[in-house]
Amino acid sequence: DISLRPRMDREENAQRWLLHLLLPVLFYRVGGAIPTPQGFYGEVMSPLFPKPYPNNFERTTVITVPMGYRVKLVFWQFDLEPSQGCFYDYVKDECALQLNSVEEDPPARCQHLCHNYVGGYFCSCRPGYELQPDGRSCQAECSSELFTEPSGYISSLEYPRPYPPDLRCNYSIRVERGHTLHLQFLEPFEIDDHQQIHCPYDQLQIYVSGRNIGEFCGKQRPERIDTQSNSVDLLFFTDESGDSRGWKLCYTSEVITCPQPKTLDSCTIIQDLQPLYHFKDRFTATCKEGYQLME
Ligand SMILES: *[C@@H]1O[C@H](CO)[C@@H](O)[C@H](O)[C@H]1NC(C)=O
Repeated sequence: DISLRPRMDREENAQRWLLHLLLPVLFYRVGGAIPTPQGFYGEVMSPLFPKPYPNNFERTTVITVPMGYRVKLVFWQFDLEPSQGCFYDYVKDECALQLNSVEEDPPARCQHLCHNYVGGYFCSCRPGYELQPDGRSCQAECSSELFTEPSGYISSLEYPRPYPPDLRCNYSIRVERGHTLHLQFLEPFEIDDHQQIHCPYDQLQIYVSGRNIGEFCGKQRPERIDTQSNSVDLLFFTDESGDSRGWKLCYTSEVITCPQPKTLDSCTIIQDLQPLYHFKDRFTATCKEGYQLME
């Protein structure tokens, strides 16, 4: 498969880039010097080529050849908006899945993502999964996810599609001391439950500063939680079955406010008294004339 995807939010006046992707597809018979058969040759180009390609589109071209042949791609012209890691616009090619299908074993396939390079391919997994030693299969890995940004989103794997079975996830949020975390769950919220027994199948446990503040399941999302803490762990356990859609939360953090400074007697003066003091703010105390500041 060859897919081309330009950036979704490009401004109208942004510099346009010309893509000329001309792609003759040549086929070689494996192990032979037979000339390229007629008809086994084609061109793929970006829409509107040779004019600039349009914004916000995604196109996949599938090239299939008979067994025993392989595909060769030659780019004649290539002009895409450059960006780090091809974040904005890109062309990617995905695996030929059945190389040498004459062998008896079923062809090796990637469980999630497949990446071609000349002469081979390799597999990778979607975020939240780890490639297994066989180089093909992917297993959920969420046992020690750490979030240290001041705000962000956390969700169960595949959200809002059903989460995988047998998860043992630990999502930890750690923000700077002097900050407090707020958790807000989004809709849909759906974790397998039971009418009589509390969360017997799958459950989301929330720990604030190491203390359990609740186990959640069902379709009722938890209310907004003001944790008064800079440390939260979310443990998500699932059993071997079920098809609930999971959960997603938005967390934010805020610097804590301090109690108003108060004087102990009428001789002390607090300079420039502010209406509100936050963590790390300072104030200076002095004395009325003729008095001395005590320790
Ligand atoms: C979850 O991860 C945090 C941070 O690494 C750790 O302190 C906590 O003990 C973990 N909880 C469990 C149940 O493993």
